[in-house]
Amino acid sequence: MLTGILHIHSILRYILLIFILLSIYKSFSGWFGKKQYLPGDKKVALFTLISAHLQLVVGLILYFISPTVKVGMANMGAAMKDPALRFWSVEHICMMLIAIILITVGYSTAKRAKNDETKHKRVAIFFLLALVVIFLAIPWPWSAVARGWMPGGQ
Ligand code: HEM
Repeated sequence: MLTGILHIHSILRYILLIFILLSIYKSFSGWFGKKQYLPGDKKVALFTLISAHLQLVVGLILYFISPTVKVGMANMGAAMKDPALRFWSVEHICMMLIAIILITVGYSTAKRAKNDETKHKRVAIFFLLALVVIFLAIPWPWSAVARGWMPGGQ
């Protein structure tokens, strides 16, 4: 079960990455190129939102079944002193939640914005900020909490 969910979570990161990069590119070029906010722009932003929310659901399931998080939760005081336990029990979930909130706020405020320039601007700024936060909370292969590039890779 854990391996299967970890694989889904790991594949979803690439789907989310593709959509968020595409959204950022489209919104910045729309904003600076003074382009219309087309249905295609909205669709890419919506797919980013959906993949972020799916990632949240899968992440929450992982959080409650992860043996690493269980060890962290059993003794939070000690976990705070251990970089890997602190990362998986607190840092990863908190920062990814912030990133997903940024994506949600960006998408919904763009939807309500009155003109196309503001729509592009909202998606551009909020999604870029979300990407920065995601990058800060990724278990990069060269970090102390390293995970591989491929699903489930150590
Ligand atoms: C933008 C969203 C997210 C991205 C890009 C992301 C990325 C990742 C990556 C790359 C891994 C390692 C996967 C592997 O080893 O193959 C991972 C593991 C994990 N993530 Fe996320 N994550 C995100 C959101 C979340 C959220 C919101 C939660 C919690 C609610 C969460 C909880 C976890 C847990 C518990 C693990 C596994 C810990 C273990 O191996 O025991 N993730 N995530």
